Formats: sequence, C-alpha cells, structure tokens
Amino acid sequence: MKETTKTEERTINVKLIPIFIMGKKYEVPETLTIMKAMEYAGYKFIRGCGCRGGICGACATVYRKPGDYHIQVGLACQTVVEPGMHLTQLPFFPANRATYDLESIGPDPEEVYKIYPELFRCVACNACTKVCPMDISVMDYIAAIKQGDFVKATELSFDCIQCGLCVSRCMGELPQYHIAQMVRRITGSKITPRAEHLKDMVEKIKAGKYNQAIEELKTADMETLKKLYQEREMEPEAASDDWRPGSDAYL
Ligand code: SF4
Ligand code: SF4
Ligand code: FES
Repeated sequence: MKETTKTEERTINVKLIPIFIMGKKYEVPETLTIMKAMEYAGYKFIRGCGCRGGICGACATVYRKPGDYHIQVGLACQTVVEPGMHLTQLPFFPANRATYDLESIGPDPEEVYKIYPELFRCVACNACTKVCPMDISVMDYIAAIKQGDFVKATELSFDCIQCGLCVSRCMGELPQYHIAQMVRRITGSKITPRAEHLKDMVEKIKAGKYNQAIEELKTADMETLKKLYQEREMEPEAASDDWRPGSDAYL
C-alpha cells in the first residue's frame, strides 16, 4: 500500500508497512522510527520519550520480527520499523534502586557490596552486554565492580543512558545500571583527584568576580547580545593546552 503526503512544496510517496503495537495492527510509513510510527498510528507520548536523539534512555522498546523467536530490543527514537514487527514500549523497569548517603560512603568496594549484595548473583551469561543499545560491555563493568576496580567500571559504564534493558534480561536479577551509577558517584567524589583550577574558579565565582558581567548580560538588549555572541572569541579547534583568550577579563 502507498500513501501520498502533500506538503506545500512537494509530494512524497511513502510505502506503508504493517507493524503490531501491543498486539494491534497498524499501517505505517516504512521510513519512520518506532517512535514516529507510534505517533503516526495515534499514540501520544507523555512518558517514555525525552530527547528523541538516543541519549536520555526513556524509550526502550522490545520487539520481535516475524519468523524469528529472538526478542530484539532498541530505542524507539533510533530504531526504524520493519514489516510485521511486534513491539511494545518499556519506558520503565522496576529495578532495585538503593537509597544511600554518598557523603558517608568511602571508596571501599565493601560499601557497594553491602548495598547491592545481588551483585554476586551474576552468572556471567553476557545477556546484558548483548542487549545494551549503547554497546556497553555491561558484564565487564559488573566484573570490574566485583573486583573492586571502580575506575575501570566507571570508564566502561560511562555511556550508560539508564534505559534499563540490561536489567530486563538479567537472570541474576541485578540492577546493573543503578550499581554502576553508585560506583561512578564514588569514583567522581572519592577517587578522582580534585581539579585545582575548578576549585579556584568556584572561589572566584563565590567572591563575586563575575557578578557585574552577568548583570550586564542580563540587562543588555537583544541586538547587543547578538553582537556579543557573534563577536565572541572562540577557542581554536586545535588549540594547545596553554591557549588563552586575548582578554583575561573572564578568567
Ligand atoms: S548499561 Fe543497561 S541501562 Fe545502561 S544503556 Fe546499557 S542496557 Fe541501558
Ligand atoms: S545479564 Fe546479569 S547475570 Fe548475565 S552477565 Fe549480565 S549481570 Fe551477569
Ligand atoms: S527519546 Fe531519548 S533515547 Fe529515545
């Protein structure tokens, strides 16, 4: 089946294909992502949709293609529809998310083991890695946490968008992404060395060094703001580490 869509400037021919959303059949343009196809079919996203750019992790989708027993997963805003696919959204997965006081926790792996003892239920099946839409080695960051290597776990899990798909397939019933988030928090606050230049800058801000400049921006008219923006000095793309702007008024 074909549908003709008229816009002011052009006519677009799009092929419609059948898909099944929560068991109900719809005909949707073959070029759409699952998210857009659902909206085309009449669904309105109030939850389960955020950035539409593959970053926020709100739009996890579970689907199966005809003639294939495998369950597939993806992000609805990134995955294009396929003929005959059966799908449903998984905007939230009820993973165990512990409450803890980060201030009172040291960089000691035992602290994490105490809060998330299910960590040791991992059977190294690797289902979590296979399902991750961000291609993260989920099993490997879990292994790094079990070994107490929080820096490695932080690096491996850094791109996690908290979609929850890994949890949905875990036979050990681990909340991988919540555990990794706790580990990244500990790494960031207790292990990574403090950035001295950042500390200096915070002190300057607190001392009011930039108050006047902010006030000038807040009271400037649109034309002045545009001019300031267009004429701003930009850091060159290949700037060396010792690059500095011409004026140090805002340093
Ligand atoms: S690690 Fe888990 S929660 Fe994070 S992006 Fe991958 S599947 Fe999603
Ligand atoms: S899916 Fe669960 S049990 Fe399997 S490797 Fe990942 S964390 Fe371990
Ligand atoms: S809407 Fe944010 S990842 Fe899909």
